[in-house]
Amino acid sequence: MAESSVNFVSATIRRGLFTRVVGRRVLFYQELGSTMDEAARLAQEKTGEGPGVGTIEGTVVVAETQTQGRGRLGRNWVSPQGNIYLSVVFRPTMENLPFLSLLAGVAAVQTIGKITGLQARIKWPNDVMVGGLKAAGILVESVIEGDELCYAVLGIGLNVGFDPNQSVETAGLATSLESATGRRIPREEVLRQLLQDLDSLYLKLQHGQSPLIQWREMLETLGRNVRVSWSDGGGSQTGIAEDIDDIGNLLLRLDGGELITVTAGDVTLAPPRS
Ligand code: BTN
Repeated sequence: MAESSVNFVSATIRRGLFTRVVGRRVLFYQELGSTMDEAARLAQEKTGEGPGVGTIEGTVVVAETQTQGRGRLGRNWVSPQGNIYLSVVFRPTMENLPFLSLLAGVAAVQTIGKITGLQARIKWPNDVMVGGLKAAGILVESVIEGDELCYAVLGIGLNVGFDPNQSVETAGLATSLESATGRRIPREEVLRQLLQDLDSLYLKLQHGQSPLIQWREMLETLGRNVRVSWSDGGGSQTGIAEDIDDIGNLLLRLDGGELITVTAGDVTLAPPRS
C-alpha cells in the first residue's frame, strides 16, 4: 500500500502549512543515516560571521528512508520507505525541555485521531500505540553546556504505509496507519497535521501551558500492574503504575509497598496481582 517515492514534503507545503515555529524551514532527503544527525548538524553549524550558530528554531528534517535510524536506549529504528521520519530543531528553555517528548506524544495521538479516526494511546514513556501495537516512536536528544541548553532535536518516526510483518524486528510489535485502517492514508496530510499539532502545542508550552495533563489522559499504563525493565543489565521491577510526576516520570508502587520514581526503561503489562 506504500505510495511511490514522490517528494511528499513538497506536497505538504504546497497545500498550506499553517504554523508559527515548526516548519519555518523544511528539508527533505531521499535517504539519510538518521534525521537526528542531520538536524543536530544544522542546529550547530556556523552561520555567516560572528557567534551566531545554527539553523532557525522549528527547522524540520524529513527523510524518505534512514539507513541508521535510531530509537530509545540505542535501539535500531527500522526505516523503510512509506512512513514518516522527521526531526525538529527546538531551542526551548531548560524548564520546558522535559515537555518536548510529551508534547510530541500528544501531537502524534491527536494527528492519528484527526486523520484516521483511530484512538491511539501512549505507553509510558512515550510509545504511541494503536490496537496494542506501536505506531510511532519519539526520541529527544539535546546538547547542554553548563546551565545552558544549546538545542534539542525532537525525532518522530510514524508508521504510515509499511507492512510491519515484512520485518522480523517489527512483526507482532508494530503497526502502521494503513495496516490498522485497511485503507490508503496520504502521508502529506499526516505530515501537515503533525507539524501543525506540534506547533500549536509548542506555542502553548512557550506560554506556560504544559502538555502534561493531556498526556496523562492518553497514558494506557496508569493503574495497571506492570514490569519495568532496564536493558543495560539493570534488571526489572514489577508494581502498579500509580501515577506520573510533574515532568512525566513514572511513579511505580512496588509489590513490597515502596513508591519509586522511574525516569527511563521499558514497560510491559504484567499479570494482575491476585
Ligand atoms: C523509540 O520509540 O525508540 C524512538 C524512535 C524514534 C525514531 C525516529 S525516526 C526519525 C528520527 N530519526 C531517528 O534516527 N530516530 C527518530
